[in-house]
Amino acid sequence: MSEPSAKVRARVEQLRDELREHNRRYYVEADPSVSDAEYDRLLRELQNLEEQHPALATPDSPTQRVGGEPIAGFETVPHAVPMLSIDNTYDRDELRAWYDRTVKALSAGEESLFSGDSDAGLTLAAEPKVDGVAMSLRYEDGRLTRAVTRGDGTKGDDVTHNARTLRAIPLELNQASDGPPIPAVLEVRGEVFMPDDVFKRVNEEREDAGLDLFMNPRNSTAGSLKQKDPAKVVRGLRFFAHGRGAIEPADAFDTHSQMLAALRSFGLPTNPAIETVAGFDAAWDFIRAFDEKRKTLGYATDGVVLKLDRFDHQDALGTTSKSPRWCIAFKFPAERVTTVLRDVEPQVGKTGKITPRAVMDPVFVAGTTVQHASLHNYGEVARKDIRLGDTVVIEKAGEIIPQVIEAVTAKRPKNAKRITPPEKCPVCATPVEIEHDSRRVNELASYEKRIEKERAKAEETGEDYTPDEPPAPLAKLDESARYCPNPDCPAQLRERLIHFAGRNQMDIDALGEKTVHQLVDAGLLAGIGDIFRLHEKCDALLDLERMGEKKIDNLLAGIEDAKSRGLARVLASLTIRQVGSSGSKALARRFGNLDALLDADEETLAEIDDIGPVTAASVRGFLDSTPGQRVLKELREAGVDLTEPQPAGASAPADSPFTGKTIVLTGTLEHFKRTELAEKLEALGASVTGSVSKNTDLLIAGEKAGSKLAKAEKLGVEVWDEAKLLGALPD
Ligand code: IVH
Repeated sequence: MSEPSAKVRARVEQLRDELREHNRRYYVEADPSVSDAEYDRLLRELQNLEEQHPALATPDSPTQRVGGEPIAGFETVPHAVPMLSIDNTYDRDELRAWYDRTVKALSAGEESLFSGDSDAGLTLAAEPKVDGVAMSLRYEDGRLTRAVTRGDGTKGDDVTHNARTLRAIPLELNQASDGPPIPAVLEVRGEVFMPDDVFKRVNEEREDAGLDLFMNPRNSTAGSLKQKDPAKVVRGLRFFAHGRGAIEPADAFDTHSQMLAALRSFGLPTNPAIETVAGFDAAWDFIRAFDEKRKTLGYATDGVVLKLDRFDHQDALGTTSKSPRWCIAFKFPAERVTTVLRDVEPQVGKTGKITPRAVMDPVFVAGTTVQHASLHNYGEVARKDIRLGDTVVIEKAGEIIPQVIEAVTAKRPKNAKRITPPEKCPVCATPVEIEHDSRRVNELASYEKRIEKERAKAEETGEDYTPDEPPAPLAKLDESARYCPNPDCPAQLRERLIHFAGRNQMDIDALGEKTVHQLVDAGLLAGIGDIFRLHEKCDALLDLERMGEKKIDNLLAGIEDAKSRGLARVLASLTIRQVGSSGSKALARRFGNLDALLDADEETLAEIDDIGPVTAASVRGFLDSTPGQRVLKELREAGVDLTEPQPAGASAPADSPFTGKTIVLTGTLEHFKRTELAEKLEALGASVTGSVSKNTDLLIAGEKAGSKLAKAEKLGVEVWDEAKLLGALPD
């Protein structure tokens, strides 16, 4: 390989500058200076030169946005300054009250920062609230060092590998000759979002590939950012900076508007629709005008954020634990339209719950044409008195699944038909079971109790007693969930398979809704275990329509990948009633592996935070059920990882005698509370379970130990008394 000549060096520099400038023109100025084809040509030329002269490659080169290696897993990074949420309102008066409160707070005190009777009013930044995914970018000496998602606000996922692929995010900041200096440390917060046309393209491509469609641009953006492989990040995501995290020097900027102007000069995109306004009326004018303007932007917004412009004002007001007092979001109500209800289809969900789905005349709302909407449950249909043939008002809340809000009774045709809930499962014809709304059951029970008491008292005193109006009886209001109780119902099975492969569960991307339907219909999937046997059925798969070798490879690779998600995701994927992702995490963290969980009795389960008695019963019921045991056996045989890595920091010292041991505690302990000891042992690497079995390594028996001790002795499990335990615990 030849030493790069001065000419080559100069060309490489020139190409990099040009490409950065094109990015800036496109994303910051919204005024592209070249066609996409020309941009790609320049990028390829640079790639070729860097390949020929590896000595010239640098990490900040525009070529380094693509082609990074996939990461093994996400690292959690704490936010130096928490990423809070924003308080919001839909109401002008509430917004006005926030403004007045703010003026008052700033005018108070000796060192009043604002004179409440100032004619101009308080200076505010008025910004579109972009419906995307929040991101914190850290630049050190002008270089992008880290990109972190919001996460829970105090810590998020490191997604630097993906952020680097976004052309809207500069890898290196630009020091404008006439601009302010770039701070040594600059944490910029902003929104990554997907323009509507990109969203449309993504879903068209997914449809062609037989993948599940994304619900909306925000979900699609979030999906992109959580890719491990940066090559899978959607091209065309955009970014607007709208806030700050840690900045050094801390006094680099005095106002929000000054900071945004500086960020722009550094090459960071900011929303051109942002304005600085003075006083409430000007802010309200902005909001009203923006409600019109936002329809033409080509990306989703759901409100306007008002922020105090002066940083000393912001600092004076501070934050609550959830959100800053110096800003507020005014949200626009979800769009509502009317259409005609033609049919109501009962749908069987993954738990057997039967819900009514509205079929309507197609109507355009919040960006797409819809024909189906949710009616929640049959109780609600009865309460709202919605009938077939009615004109109904629908709303797309959060731009996701539209909901039927109400019927326009004034437009009701004479022959409008009442909607009756099904008596039998629409798919397997098993008679449905009714589960009443627990709130209503409790309401009725407490009414009856109260009446009984009052009547008894009245009898004692000999007074007349007329009980007050009882709540409506359950059957009359029909406020109940209907279930198909048949665990082998084909509809439930299909929904369970879809859930199992879903993004937040086992995340088998190529096994989306359509593919599950196709494989079930072809007789290739009759249960979760079958997913892991698909690799034996390649010939049958190849016979299916739209199933090429590439898709099958994808599918099988995705299934293989899914085996290593860990216990929490496995539990979340199994449709155990009451158990969602947080419950699954709590169980997995507490027990560390499936065997330890299998050994836990209901009481032990109920003691866990996030679980409680109802969920504990449901979990134990699942673990003891025939279908539950079957699926767990199948997962084990398929080599699915049924352990959960314990959180970092809790890792045990390597020489702990408890590392990896399954321990049961019994009897009365003198020196410990049971739960405290369990925590201590877990911190030392043990998993503590509730009952003795052949998987138990050690029983710690206090005074008055009973049946657990007897069982341990019978099974030959090692038994320690408290004295021995005290000797083995580190100081
Ligand atoms: S300021 C402390 N400005 O809305 C508050 N947020 O609902 C910092 N968002 O997590 C956020 N556009 O992701 C701010 N112009 C804007 C915004 C904006 C969208 C998002 C942001 C935040 C969420 C809160």
